[in-house]
Amino acid sequence: MKKRVAILISGGGSNMEALLRDMARDHPAAPVLVLANSPDAGGLAKAAARGVATASVDHRPYKGDRARFEAALNEKLEQAAPDIICLAGFMRILTPGFIARWQGKMLNIHPSILPLFRGLHTHQRALEAGMAVHGCTVHEVTGELDGGPILGQAVMPVQAGDTPETLAKRLLPLEHQLYPMVLRRFAVGDSKKVSIFA
Ligand code: GAR
Repeated sequence: MKKRVAILISGGGSNMEALLRDMARDHPAAPVLVLANSPDAGGLAKAAARGVATASVDHRPYKGDRARFEAALNEKLEQAAPDIICLAGFMRILTPGFIARWQGKMLNIHPSILPLFRGLHTHQRALEAGMAVHGCTVHEVTGELDGGPILGQAVMPVQAGDTPETLAKRLLPLEHQLYPMVLRRFAVGDSKKVSIFA
């Protein structure tokens, strides 16, 4: 039986699309839900166009009450009964309770070579640190922000004159290669790490 995958997004969802595109081929997993924290997330229409069920829980009315926002999120997730949850540009911090519920089943893609540059503004920070390489990481989600076990990484050179924008633009296609490769392995319990050198 195929593994059931829910994908959580906040924005355009290009990583989500890469995952959906790959799952449309011969694949050990299938998408059951794309869930956004805003009804305006551009990725929702892209998922719907591919025939995938979509839902959103707007975080704004829950301002200051993360637990209640997550309860609403969880209700949608429990209905979809995913075996795997992929965070794909999901920009809300999750509480330990939510993470514990899905621990061992939840993956995230982060735009840096973890454990370097956890959190935000990773491209800017890689440049400020004078890095010669930059990259992205897919990891399991644990209670530590951007800190769970690393499942795969893609690495590319930093070039003279790079800006946060040029780094982001060159990195995104690598993210789109890495995440589907990791999901394929994760779905069959293959713990061999993925490495991509661009
Ligand atoms: C991606 O670059 C992803 O790595 C990053 O947000 C972007 C989402 O793009 N995620 C994070 O920064 C998580 N902390 P997408 O919506 O086009 O996939």
